[in-house]
Amino acid sequence: MDPTKNTSVPCPVKTEPLKDGPEIAGQPYSITILKEGYCQSLPDGSAHADGTISLLQGPKNILVDTGGPWDRDFLLSRLKEKGLDPDDMNIVVGTHGHSDHIGNLGLFPGATLIVGCDICQGDLYLPNQLAEGEPYPIDDHVSILPTPGHTGRDVSVLVKGTSMGTVLVAGDLFERCTDEDTWKELSENPAVQVVSRQKALQTADVIIPGHGGPFRVSRNVEN
Ligand SMILES: [Fe+2]
Repeated sequence: MDPTKNTSVPCPVKTEPLKDGPEIAGQPYSITILKEGYCQSLPDGSAHADGTISLLQGPKNILVDTGGPWDRDFLLSRLKEKGLDPDDMNIVVGTHGHSDHIGNLGLFPGATLIVGCDICQGDLYLPNQLAEGEPYPIDDHVSILPTPGHTGRDVSVLVKGTSMGTVLVAGDLFERCTDEDTWKELSENPAVQVVSRQKALQTADVIIPGHGGPFRVSRNVEN
């Protein structure tokens, strides 16, 4: 083992907003950000917030987060623009159980629902090891990764083979591209979340966060 190498320190990364628009082409999966999440704090301590809604189209139609219940009509019309009815959705993922991410699960009773570490088809709950830290593969290109911290049971969706490389649809693992000032105060377990974030930054080429636009991750940068 090379004593000069410190394997406990991840290689430095740089993140920068992606300005290519809401579509990421890919084979076999393309990704469309149907709604970019946001969070705007108000002086009285309240905040306007909504979660990012992402659509994967390929061998399966996969929706990642559904926005809040107030997004119902918006979501239906965005899906229609894509030629999709709710019944066309094969899998709907709720990255975690907050109302601005899972507000429209009820539109998709026929889909496989993956909400945090729970996976069900109707009232049938399927065995999985997400809560024990094991990924849950959907196929060769898409897998569900446990990424706890924001809540105890957060998951993210990893998509390989896009035109921008590997994309992680990350829910509130990341709030937005530059979120160092905010993510910890929104986290149930910052010590766990920082580990999940580091793993994500070492894996993904693009991250789609829960309350902001997508960003590119560059590794092995000097500063
Ligand atoms: Fe959240």
